[in-house]
Amino acid sequence: GVAMPTKDLQRWNQDGTNMKAELEAAGYTVDLQYASNDINQQVSQIENMVSEPVDCLVVASIDGSSLSTPLSDAKAKGIPIIAYDRLLTDTDAVDYYATFDNEEVGRIQGKYIVDQLKLADAKAGTTYNIELFTGDPGDNNAQLFWKGAITDTLQQYIDSGVLVVKSGQKDFASCATAEWKTETAQARMDDLISSYYADGTKIDAVMCSNDSTALGVENSLAQNYNGGNQPIITGQDCDKPNVKNMIAGKQSMSVFKDTRELAKETVKMVGQILSGSTVDTTEGGAYNNGKIDVPTYLCTPVFADASNYKQLLIDSGYYTEADLA
Ligand code: BGC
Repeated sequence: GVAMPTKDLQRWNQDGTNMKAELEAAGYTVDLQYASNDINQQVSQIENMVSEPVDCLVVASIDGSSLSTPLSDAKAKGIPIIAYDRLLTDTDAVDYYATFDNEEVGRIQGKYIVDQLKLADAKAGTTYNIELFTGDPGDNNAQLFWKGAITDTLQQYIDSGVLVVKSGQKDFASCATAEWKTETAQARMDDLISSYYADGTKIDAVMCSNDSTALGVENSLAQNYNGGNQPIITGQDCDKPNVKNMIAGKQSMSVFKDTRELAKETVKMVGQILSGSTVDTTEGGAYNNGKIDVPTYLCTPVFADASNYKQLLIDSGYYTEADLA
């Protein structure tokens, strides 16, 4: 059983397709379900998988803490559970976690802004304006991206006053984007521009935790911003519209997470669990989910921008030239 959060975002379609193809190639029958970002729908999809019953569950949750009931039922039936990409939290009914190094994703984004604005060498009195956009509060990854980008990397420059968040919206809750929706990020950026930058005040950077939020920010800037520059904008996923925007100079960077690799590692994990072999995990990579330490396999996220997208995305067969035309 493979439970995915939504078809709205490109990456989960790829994740689902890759998982199904890889599992079928390994001889499994696959029940793949998407839940339209609706938590109740995901709960009932997993309940159905448990009653089938499936031999193994792979879950990319909408809200990591909302599945404890169906997961406990699965555990009681002896069904092994793998958290896929997003950690399942506040439950002891999760056996393994396969993901990318999520804090590292955030650090790549934060460090990019530090390097581009040369913040480490900023002279006294120099200031840069930045605004911050992150993801859904129920998605545990959003907190990890925030920790890597803000807490570990940019916070010191906000505290010292080199980075100025003119809106004053600089805690996770104020910068969260429900369901990671492009339209929601766009509407918030519209508000920020009209409230704080309408007089042409320059925005130097917008830290966006992923591509769907970056796209909203880019749409809003195109319509409303008259500061005379294109701010540095970060992203994650290398979604097609965002790669096109990187090529066009509208988005500075993204983080490539090869979903083919995550699917391959997860399918390997399924095989190892079901055959009773040792499961490959990353040493020191376990994530605490509030109840237990979950042994984790970490894939590596990779910096992407207009200078290396061809090699990363086209040469590797992830996209065709036509996808990005
Ligand atoms: C994933 C990101 C994705 C976001 C929105 C996160 O959990 O790790 O790759 O951009 O969800 O779907």
